[in-house]
This record gives sequence, C-alpha cells and structure tokens, in this order.
Amino acid sequence: MSITKDNIIASKLPSHIAIIMDGNGRWAAQHGNERIFGHEHGVESVRSVVEGAGEVGVKYLTLYAFSTENWSRPKEEIDALMGLLVQAINDETDKLKEKNVRLQMIGDYESLPADVQKKLDWSINELKECDGLTLILALSYSARWEISEAMKKIGRKIQSGELKPEEITKELIDKHLATAGIPDPELLIRTSGESRISNFLLWQIAYSELFFTPKLWPDFRKEDLFEAICDFQSRERRFGKTSQQLVS
Ligand code: IPE
Ligand code: IPE
Ligand code: MG
Repeated sequence: MSITKDNIIASKLPSHIAIIMDGNGRWAAQHGNERIFGHEHGVESVRSVVEGAGEVGVKYLTLYAFSTENWSRPKEEIDALMGLLVQAINDETDKLKEKNVRLQMIGDYESLPADVQKKLDWSINELKECDGLTLILALSYSARWEISEAMKKIGRKIQSGELKPEEITKELIDKHLATAGIPDPELLIRTSGESRISNFLLWQIAYSELFFTPKLWPDFRKEDLFEAICDFQSRERRFGKTSQQLVS
C-alpha cells in the first residue's frame, strides 16, 4: 500500500522539516550526464516538496542547497549552481506567491555572488506578506559558521556590558542563531543514502528525528515527503523520559 497524505495525522504534524538535498551528481552520472544535469533536475524535486509541505500544513521547510564546504567544488560547478539558483528564484517567485509561501535565507549572505544576493532580496521582499509555509534556503550555510557567528555576537554584548556570562542560556543562544524565531526541526531528512549531517543545523537538531532515504534528490517527490512524515509519526519521542511516563 502506498502512503498518501491521507495517512498523515494532522495533530502530529511536524511544524518544521529540514532536508539535506543530496545525490544530484550521482543521479546525473546514472543518466550518463554531467553533474549540473542533476542539479537542474533537482529543481523539480524542490517544487514538488514545497507544494507537498504546503498541502499538509507544515509551517517551516528548510532546504540545504549549498554548504560553506561546497565552495571547494570546481568553479564551473559552483557557477552553474549559482546561475541555476538565480534562475529558479526568478521563475518560481510568482508561483510561490500564489501558494502563499514566504522566503527566508540562512547562511553567509556576504559570500554569495551579487546577482544571487539581488535575486534573493527581490524574492524575499515579493513574498514578505505571505503567511503560509515559510521556505528557508540554507545557502553558503554551515552550522559551525552559524555557531561561530552567534558566539561573536554574544561575545561583543558581553564586552560592551550589555550581557553577563551568567545570562547565557539555551534560549539566548537560539536568539543569536540564523534560525532565531524558527522552531527546531522535528524531522530531518537526507536523501542519497548517506548517513551524515554534513555541518547542517547542528544546534537545532539536538532532538530531531532523522530520516535517511536511499533515493537521490532528483527522484524525490512530495509522496516521499509524506512517507517520511508518516514514519516520523510512528516514532515515540521520549526526550529522555521513559515510555511509561509518556503514557501516563
Ligand atoms: C547535492 O547533490 C547538491 C549540492 C550539494 C549542491 P550533490 O551535488 O552533492 O550530488 P552527489 O552527492 O555528488 O551525488
Ligand atoms: C551536503 O551535501 C550539502 C548540501 C546538500 C547542500 P554534500 O554532498 O556537500 O555533503 P558531503 O560532502 O557528502 O558530506
Ligand atoms: Mg553530495
């Protein structure tokens, strides 16, 4: 029996899902093509997943699109990825507006090429009144970069006397991260069969449920998202308590 969105229990819906979209290069190789061919086909997966997340009522969807480590790839792949990003944002913004999707980015904005910055600013502004799904693109992002930035901000506040070291709490750290104001993802999905986090949201996924699928990103569709949500809903999230405590 295949899983559809009717199998999803509305009251147990994760409010935030994060996805490590991996496997584009391998998908392209399987199809006898260059890596960029896989990235191009990955855009359709993004479209489908954004649509699916909106349909079931997920509030936040974070997509890991480019890591700080990805800057070490060949220049022509980086250029092609950045070009694809500009094109996709340009082509999809109207449709996102129709679907009431807001856009946000997390990552080292300053390191992005000027045309990517410009297109992002434009799209974020176009979609700022939307209040359905919030789509968060992680671009030139890594968790260790994000945590270092947060520590710098906190350090400066201590130096200026605005903050005391004793006032550093989990909540205070949350507020200084790129994801300030966004709930932690309850569910983290990674495609392509790799079982690693690759420097994604290390602080925020402390208690996330992890879902690894062998599917390569260009083959991933909203039905796969629904399957991951159903799997998530079948799990017992204990947060350190015993099973018995949760029942009573
Ligand atoms: C994910 O696919 C996209 C990015 C990291 C930008 P990959 O490009 O990593 O594809 P594989 O993992 O080499 O197959
Ligand atoms: C993680 O994928 C980053 C993104 C999906 C953007 P990578 O393909 O870069 O990760 P590793 O190198 O396999 O860990
Ligand atoms: Mg990869």
